[in-house]
Amino acid sequence: MKTQPPASTNTVWHHATVTRGRREAQNGHRGAIIWFTGLSGSGKSTLAHAVEEALHQQGCHTFVLDGDNVRHGLCGDLGFTAKDREENIRRIGEMAKLFMEAGIIVLTAFISPYRADRERVRGMVEHGDFMEIYCDTAIEVCESRDVKGLYKKARAGQISNFTGISSPYEAPENPELTVPTGTEELDGCVETVIGAMLNRGIVQAG
Ligand code: ADX
Repeated sequence: MKTQPPASTNTVWHHATVTRGRREAQNGHRGAIIWFTGLSGSGKSTLAHAVEEALHQQGCHTFVLDGDNVRHGLCGDLGFTAKDREENIRRIGEMAKLFMEAGIIVLTAFISPYRADRERVRGMVEHGDFMEIYCDTAIEVCESRDVKGLYKKARAGQISNFTGISSPYEAPENPELTVPTGTEELDGCVETVIGAMLNRGIVQAG
């Protein structure tokens, strides 16, 4: 997949001697991008952090990139129009790729509502490096949870472009994994994700 040519010219790519492969060999697992997608309140962050906890306890090198946190810093200039969300996901994709190349299992928890934006990130890395996990919670369940009180505000017209209400969510068509985060207990969801990571050889059975 083509990426934008850089605006900066006369730059030369520097090749490291400490390669991704050497880092992965030292870590005892592969670097990878575990991309959670789903509605606000679907359980992406909760699941990403719980999977991270389990992996960390097994000695894996991990990091969670979380929607609300990243929007306070790196993406603090972006809102929720389709264009801003595209740029949000582009930056996060680039950042996640750097973490992966550092040999880390990076778990991302962003709504990432547009299929094309997620596919762009998938196309930035090699086949097998990107694992898309759909946190499949019905909007009625997300809305009844309304942990942040945002659905109520969106229904009242106080928030525009709110995903699932006044802005679309395009569910993945062929995700590596769909997790029933609306109905299954957290522990079961964590096991399902770790099992899929074992199957893909990202981590080894400990
Ligand atoms: S994304 O669409 O660009 O991937 P991201 O995951 O970074 O979104 O941010 C979503 C979080 O921002 C939500 O969990 C919610 O807390 C907050 N938020 C604020 N306004 C909106 C909105 N209009 N739509 C969706 N989420 C919003």
